[in-house]
Amino acid sequence: MAANGSNGSSNGTTAAPAPPPITVRLDVVDRMKRWEGKVAVVTGASAAIGGAIAKELVKAGMIVCALSRRRDKVEKLRASLFDVAGNLNCVECDITEEEDVKHAFGWIENTYGGVDMLVNNAGVITKCLLTEKNNTRDLYTTMETNIIGLCMCTREAVKSMKARDVKGHIINVNSIFGHKVHQAVPGTRPLNGMYPASKYAVTAITECIRQELIYLDSGCKVTSISPGLVEGDILSTVSSNENEIVKYMPKLKPEDVAEAVLYAITTPDNVQIHELVIKPMGEFL
Ligand SMILES: NC(=O)c1ccc[n+]([C@@H]2O[C@H](COP(=O)([O-])OP(=O)(O)OC[C@H]3O[C@@H](n4cnc5c(N)ncnc54)[C@H](OP(=O)(O)O)[C@@H]3O)[C@@H](O)[C@H]2O)c1
Repeated sequence: MAANGSNGSSNGTTAAPAPPPITVRLDVVDRMKRWEGKVAVVTGASAAIGGAIAKELVKAGMIVCALSRRRDKVEKLRASLFDVAGNLNCVECDITEEEDVKHAFGWIENTYGGVDMLVNNAGVITKCLLTEKNNTRDLYTTMETNIIGLCMCTREAVKSMKARDVKGHIINVNSIFGHKVHQAVPGTRPLNGMYPASKYAVTAITECIRQELIYLDSGCKVTSISPGLVEGDILSTVSSNENEIVKYMPKLKPEDVAEAVLYAITTPDNVQIHELVIKPMGEFL
C-alpha cells in the first residue's frame, strides 16, 4: 500500500509500483565504440607522445588529423598503421600561427565535416633560463606554443563541436610541472625556465574551458593529463651535461600517456576526468 494511499486502485487492490527506468551502463568497449568513425585532431603527433596517442585513436577506428610542422614524421607513423581500423591524415600546421590553425580546421571541416575530439599535445621546452640574456624569443615560443596555440586550437574545435551539437572531448596534455615547480638540485642548472609557467597556465585554462563548456551548454568534456617525465626527444632539450640527473630519473612511456587518454574518453556520460596526474614508479620530482 502506498504510504499516502494515492496509488491504491478504485477497487481497493494495490497497483503494482512503476518499474524503475531502465539504465544500461555500457562497458568500456561499448563506450569506445561511440568514437568509431569520429574525427580527432591531435597536435604534435609527429613526436613521441602525440604519435602514441594518434596511434591508439586510429586503432580505435577514429579519423585522426595530425597537426604538426614535420610532415615526414607523420607520414612514417601513417605507414606503420596500414592495417588498422581508422585513418591518419597529416595536416601541416604551426599552431602558433593563427592562419595555419584556421586553415587546418577549415580543411578538416571541408573534408570530414568537423571535429569531435581535440588532443592539445604539441608543446615545447626551451633551454633558456628566465634570467638569461637574449632569451626573449625563447620566452615567446614557449608561451605561444604551450598556451596560445592550445587556446586557438581549442577555440576552433569547440566552434565545430557546438555548430554540429557534438558531445566532444578536449584533452590537454599538461605536465607534472603544471602543478609543481621542480626543485633544482643545488649546484646544477635549474630545469624550469618558462616551461612550468606555461603548464600552470594549462591547469588554469583547463578549468576555464570546463566552465565555458557548461556556459555554452555544449555537453563537451575537457581533461588535463599531467605526466611526469616521458621518454622522448623533448628531454634532449633539458638533458645536457649540466643536467645528467634527467638521464637517471624514472620515465613513463608515451604509450602510458596514450592509455590515459583512452581512459578519459571512455568514461560514462555523467563522468568527466578533470585532472589525471601520472607518475612513473619511483619518481622523485
Ligand atoms: N616528454 C616529457 O617528459 C613530457 C612530460 C610531461 C608532459 N609533456 C608534454 O607532452 C607533450 C608532448 O611532448 P613530447 O615529449 O612528445 O615532445 P617532443 O618530442 O618535443 O614533441 C613536441 C611535439 O610538438 C609539436 N610542436 C611543437 N611546436 C609546434 C608548433 N608550433 N606547431 C605544431 N606542432 C608543434 C612537434 O611537432 P613539429 O616539430 O613536427 O611541429 C612535436 O610533435 C608536450 O605538451 C609536453 O609539454 C612531456
